[in-house]
Amino acid sequence: ADSQIYLASTTAPVNIAVIKYWGKRDPKFNLPTNSSLSVTLAQSDLRTHTTASCSASYKTSDSLLLNGQDQDVSGARTQACFRELRSLRQKLEDSDSSVPKISTLPLKIVSENNFPTAAGLASSAAGFAALVRAIANLYELKEDPTDLSRIARQGSGSACRSLFGGYVGWQKGEQQDGSDSFAYQVAPASHWPQMRALILVVSAAKKGVSSTTGMQTTVATSSLFPSRANETVPRRMKEMEKAVQEKDFETFGKVTMMDSNSFHATCLDTYPPIFYLNDVSRAAIKVVESINAAAGKIIAAYTFDAGPNAVIYYLEENEKEVAGLFKAAIGEKDGWGVERGQKLDANSAAY
Ligand code: PMV
Repeated sequence: ADSQIYLASTTAPVNIAVIKYWGKRDPKFNLPTNSSLSVTLAQSDLRTHTTASCSASYKTSDSLLLNGQDQDVSGARTQACFRELRSLRQKLEDSDSSVPKISTLPLKIVSENNFPTAAGLASSAAGFAALVRAIANLYELKEDPTDLSRIARQGSGSACRSLFGGYVGWQKGEQQDGSDSFAYQVAPASHWPQMRALILVVSAAKKGVSSTTGMQTTVATSSLFPSRANETVPRRMKEMEKAVQEKDFETFGKVTMMDSNSFHATCLDTYPPIFYLNDVSRAAIKVVESINAAAGKIIAAYTFDAGPNAVIYYLEENEKEVAGLFKAAIGEKDGWGVERGQKLDANSAAY
């Protein structure tokens, strides 16, 4: 009947890149200048929960509520996701007359993040991954995660990687229409289940320069950028995939840190310069260096996205040396929240 409400829910976890996506070769289709690789933090509570529904009874046009606040859905990115998913549903409806015709009904999307939005904690990654999967579920689409990753990519580049668990690559692809720019699983989480991520929440404030604006200025002005995109990252992608396959933490950690440094170097080399790291971020780098020096090998690796928060990767066997020491080192300082790959510390100052 007309008043019927069709509804589906899903959650998607954040992912934190160890080889960063930074630079668009095509802003319309969100096609990257380089491939990237991330770890999906499926065990963590850093997730977006999304319910998608549609009904002829909805008086409004398409709407999106994020953490209780109405969002603008007219942007090209959100529209691209809606359009692609609707056209796939339309195909189902056209091929089988028993399939309810819901593709043209207004969509109502309700999302909740349980972590700070746009604070460099990959909120857009989980957000668009959840949005795309929730609507795909609502429409009962048969598309696999690879297909959905191609759609989520158009919402937010990094979102394509949140459709897979474990160690996930995003191949940049060569085609102009983006047909070969999608995510793939390098290895499931079970392949290397000892991996842990510690998230240091330096600041839960909204970030200063959005990733889209930052990327555009970097590509346009940084003289370091071409060698990063064309030489350094392609080489490190291979090293990183091999390190994951061989469960070689020393290489995984070293490449992770060097890629984060390389990404932030191109930000500093951007004109006007972009500073995502702050003094607290740099202090975290020093702590990781001292942990590794004391161990005589790399047992902890830092990485930073488009914000000052640190993510520290380490193996479970080094929990005490890494997470323990970090807690001790920063225990007295204000403004730090610690996440052990499990739960954000609700008592931390940042929250
Ligand atoms: O997905 P976007 O457009 O928000 O860009 C994300 C960029 C980084 O988080 C800095 C790197 C990455 O690969 O996730």
